[in-house]
Amino acid sequence: MTTLDFAHERTDPMPAEQREEFLRMPGFGSLYSDHMVTARWTADRGWHDARSRPLAAFTLHPATMAFHYGQTIFEGLKAFWRPDGRHVLFRPRDHAARFARSARRMAMPELPETDFLAAVTALLCIDGDWVPRARGHSFYLRPFMIASETHLSNRPAEEYLFAVIGSPARPAAAEPAPIRLWASPEYVRAADGGTGTIKCGGNYGGSYVAQREAAAHGCHQVVWLDARERRYVEEVGGSNLFFVEGDRLVTPPLSETLLAGVTRDSILRLAGRLGLAVAEEPVTLEDWERGCRSGRITETFACGTARALAPVGHAVTPAGEWAIGDGTTGPVTRRLLNTLLDIQYGETPDEFGWLHTP
Ligand code: COI
Repeated sequence: MTTLDFAHERTDPMPAEQREEFLRMPGFGSLYSDHMVTARWTADRGWHDARSRPLAAFTLHPATMAFHYGQTIFEGLKAFWRPDGRHVLFRPRDHAARFARSARRMAMPELPETDFLAAVTALLCIDGDWVPRARGHSFYLRPFMIASETHLSNRPAEEYLFAVIGSPARPAAAEPAPIRLWASPEYVRAADGGTGTIKCGGNYGGSYVAQREAAAHGCHQVVWLDARERRYVEEVGGSNLFFVEGDRLVTPPLSETLLAGVTRDSILRLAGRLGLAVAEEPVTLEDWERGCRSGRITETFACGTARALAPVGHAVTPAGEWAIGDGTTGPVTRRLLNTLLDIQYGETPDEFGWLHTP
């Protein structure tokens, strides 16, 4: 196992008043902290040249393999501010493990967990002033890896670039606005044996045509159905999906086509704290519609690291649409979101050991 030794090069940070102005109301993903972390992998040397350094553009040859054959993977994880001036990372080991799974599936080199943790910690330490303080706000870390070899052959690259950048992120709203979902009859996100269980760039790029179609139907996101029968509800946009049936919380089971969301897993474990029974079972589009119309399903929400929990107000198909509950944020969604935020902000004990203090 490698243990990377990080060299540090500092830049003059953005002036404090300007940074504080940005941090008062960050958006999502449009503003970046002063530094980045990078490391390189080559077939002969393995991982090497690990550095934290000023954020800057990469210079890449037009024949860089990532541009042509899509060997790119990424993670998204969050850091939160603590009143004692320290910061905590939420479940970084789970993100490291998924990054390694993504790398294996894409025939890319695995970055050992210790190096993943060292890389995100290095960025957090050098750019700690970029972590917003308000409840709901966070510092979103984006580790990623691309095939950086210059070659046009259709094969796994023999050189890779790993990097971590950071971006202050807007609140996961305490009262998030319910979203409308479009059930795409035409496009699928993932099929058995494909790449649906991992975070590779192509999974996202391949979804945008359906996202456009959703927008054309007045919807915010796509609800993905299974590739085989186009009956089973699998995911929403880049998020997992949950249904509330009285005191039961239901989510589709992990399979060859579902991304094992870290937030999905957190919600499954938090549900017990709220007295909810959990079931990982298949749900068809028809079950969902019938359940909502009969009042059995009272709430539906999407969840992921970036958005935390997003209530679903309506579902739309070519045949018509239905409301979930009264179309507003339900009490179970709100309680689960607040329970998650309470742990992330240190307002309740972290009984699951999810928080990592660098
Ligand atoms: C995340 O929730 O971190 C994601 O990966 C979604 C991202 C595509 C914005």
